[in-house]
Amino acid sequence: MKNVGIISVGCYLPKRVLTNFDLEKMVDTSDEWITTRTGIKERRIANKDERNSALAVHAAKDALKRAHLDPAKVELIVVATISPDSNFPSVSCLVQKALGAKKAAAFDIGAACSGFLYALTTAKQYVQNGLYKNALVIASEKITNLVDWADRNTCVLFGDGAGACVLAPVAGNRGIIADYLHAQGEFGELMEVVVDNSVEPLTQEKHKVHKPYLVMQGKELFKVAVNSMADAVEIAVQKAKLKLSDIDCVVPHQANDRIISAVAWKLNIPKEKIFVNIDKYGNMSAASIAVALYEAIEQKKIKRGNNVVLVTFGAGLVSAANVVRW
Ligand SMILES: CC(C)(COP(=O)(O)OP(=O)(O)OC[C@H]1O[C@@H](n2cnc3c(N)ncnc32)[C@H](O)[C@@H]1OP(=O)(O)O)[C@@H](O)C(=O)NCCC(=O)NCCS
Repeated sequence: MKNVGIISVGCYLPKRVLTNFDLEKMVDTSDEWITTRTGIKERRIANKDERNSALAVHAAKDALKRAHLDPAKVELIVVATISPDSNFPSVSCLVQKALGAKKAAAFDIGAACSGFLYALTTAKQYVQNGLYKNALVIASEKITNLVDWADRNTCVLFGDGAGACVLAPVAGNRGIIADYLHAQGEFGELMEVVVDNSVEPLTQEKHKVHKPYLVMQGKELFKVAVNSMADAVEIAVQKAKLKLSDIDCVVPHQANDRIISAVAWKLNIPKEKIFVNIDKYGNMSAASIAVALYEAIEQKKIKRGNNVVLVTFGAGLVSAANVVRW
């Protein structure tokens, strides 16, 4: 079996910044509440005409450029998203068209905030078994389209963005050395976007009154998130035949800085080893880890030979972790 690694990363963040002070003018909240409860100071919001697939294309081009890979040579495109432009065509097909990646197979994965790691693990299998020589994995979200901007419980938490990476065989003992994917459907009601068009067709009349907004039971989700992420790290590290003390850097899903701190405390991992950028972007769902990974590399928090853990949880509930030897 080939070792498969992340040979480049890319990123795109919409230009528009929405600060906590801006939110103070929109709902009954305060910078102090948001900062102390979540660690978020600001987030990016895509413009109305800036579609999810456009964010994905920007991030993909960045990753391909850094990998010196011609789009025409890309063999597989997997996009993790829960906020696609439309039900179909998939975002991956829109990206394939925009890049001119005519040779590539393309599909989307919907695993909410765990999407990037689900996509990474899925795409890795295809490269590892030799079906494809490379894969372009993208996590892209325009999640703020699903947010009720009058609901202070949720609107302060989310932001838009996209991250991407190129996977290819790597030499030596480098690469993605352990994977762990998990699901707990019994906690599905803790975070939902309900569109009941599976029961009855969504008529034009219903569409006017029913907005498919994101609803969340934050407190309950918090507890499950801490336990699932801590378990995922332990299992993935064990699968990699490493100890927690061998880990140089953890890149967690950025949902709440208090969740990240609680996971660090539970696992007895020093917070300095954990990469956090939630203050700038909030929770970008699937894109959070992809963007955090990009920034951790840019800031040289991840260096050649490091053992890196990527870990996440999200609506579903789904959790996942990967160990990557850089
Ligand atoms: C949402 C979350 C930040 C709330 O923090 P919390 O400490 O649990 O806060 P609580 O739910 O106890 O709410 C405390 C109070 O703040 C209020 N509140 C909620 N949002 C507020 C806001 N933006 N500004 C001011 N007050 C707010 C609540 O109404 C509540 O008021 P009450 O006590 O009068 O009823 C936190 O629970 C969380 O991050 N949960 C996980 C969410 C998550 O990860 N989602 C993404 C999954 S991928």
